[in-house]
Amino acid sequence: MKKLGIGLIGSGFMGKAHALAFRTVGGVFDLPAAVELEILADTDTGRAAAAARSFGFQRSTADWRAVVNDPRVAIVAITTPNLLHKPMALAAIAAGKAVYCEKPLATTVDDAREMVAAAKAAGVVTQVGFNYLCNPMIGLAKEIVDSGELGEITGFRGIHAEGFMADPATPYNWRCQPEQAGGALADIGSHIIALARYLAGPIDRVCGETITVHQERRLADGSGSKPVCVDDQSHCLARFASGASGNLSASWIATGRQMQHAFELYGTRGALDFTQERFNELRLYQAGQPRGRDGFKTITAGPEHPDYGAFCPASGHQIGFNDLKVIEVKRLIEAVCGVAPAYADFREALEVERVAAAVRKSAEQGRWVPVAVC
Ligand SMILES: NC(=O)c1ccc[n+]([C@@H]2O[C@H](COP(=O)([O-])OP(=O)(O)OC[C@H]3O[C@@H](n4cnc5c(N)ncnc54)[C@H](O)[C@@H]3O)[C@@H](O)[C@H]2O)c1
Repeated sequence: MKKLGIGLIGSGFMGKAHALAFRTVGGVFDLPAAVELEILADTDTGRAAAAARSFGFQRSTADWRAVVNDPRVAIVAITTPNLLHKPMALAAIAAGKAVYCEKPLATTVDDAREMVAAAKAAGVVTQVGFNYLCNPMIGLAKEIVDSGELGEITGFRGIHAEGFMADPATPYNWRCQPEQAGGALADIGSHIIALARYLAGPIDRVCGETITVHQERRLADGSGSKPVCVDDQSHCLARFASGASGNLSASWIATGRQMQHAFELYGTRGALDFTQERFNELRLYQAGQPRGRDGFKTITAGPEHPDYGAFCPASGHQIGFNDLKVIEVKRLIEAVCGVAPAYADFREALEVERVAAAVRKSAEQGRWVPVAVC
């Protein structure tokens, strides 16, 4: 069987999620290739070695370039802060590797375009970590929308709200840096834009607002504080190319919210309702039910919904967040082996970036902005 060597850069929150997924995927799915955890890089040798040991990588390094240039590495997984995505991805592409990069793809639309162009010219497979799209219930939502069962899609309301920055005492971190494309819109809003595009299609124009509520945050080392200029929350009205309309919101100061990655989608003959907080469920409304008996029904995830059955043969037992990463990695491996195209690839991630840029531009200019100008 073909072997694909994995090189992982970064061993934080997402580094661990990627590592667990690469370790697990061969036990869950029948794959066209085997995965070898070759080498892991982090900022210093001790940290890299400890993570490599814990995650099951054979070797470690403090030099990420050693990962992208390693002859045994076929796929480079990038799980570092946003500013590093571009140099790491471009180097990996130049070395002919497939690239699996975390979102947001880049810190500017121009950088994202450069990454798309480089990947295209090199003919390498790319994938971006919009893991929520890998949820079997989101797959079902897409199938329902595409089948026409809901009629014409007229509305989409999406929100990604978490509360991890709600406390004004939460210290400044890399996600607050403008040069990292910090802020709620880029950090978590990118997920809801990706979902909106996946289910309701391209977004034509937006009218947005970005708000910084906590304008100063203390430094973690106690040496003072720093002004914050990235958004704590952002909102936009959105008009889809299909004519459907709606709104999208992102907030990391949503007090009490853990993971409201949620949408409602309306069609002329039905509707969908979903939240990641109960992500093994999709709520479906079908028009035409008897009056007094109509309402949403809850569909529970089960083996009938690809790829749930690969984890568990019984309905309702539920899969978890890290399983979405396993599905994402399965799709990546299939794409690298030419079985199916990758999604979301760099091109799709660029489109997400353009929508976010249009929201920012609209907020600056106080008017509707076509995504096409971004
Ligand atoms: N898909 C998702 O659901 C999701 C969730 C969280 C984060 N993310 C994305 O993942 C990326 C990382 O976020 P995180 O939460 O894991 O951050 P993190 O701070 O937990 O981890 C970042 C890791 O990168 C390492 N790193 C930094 N500079 C490096 C360098 N020069 N060389 C090698 N390693 C380096 C850090 O030491 C750390 O291990 C970001 O782009 C973020 O937006 C995605």
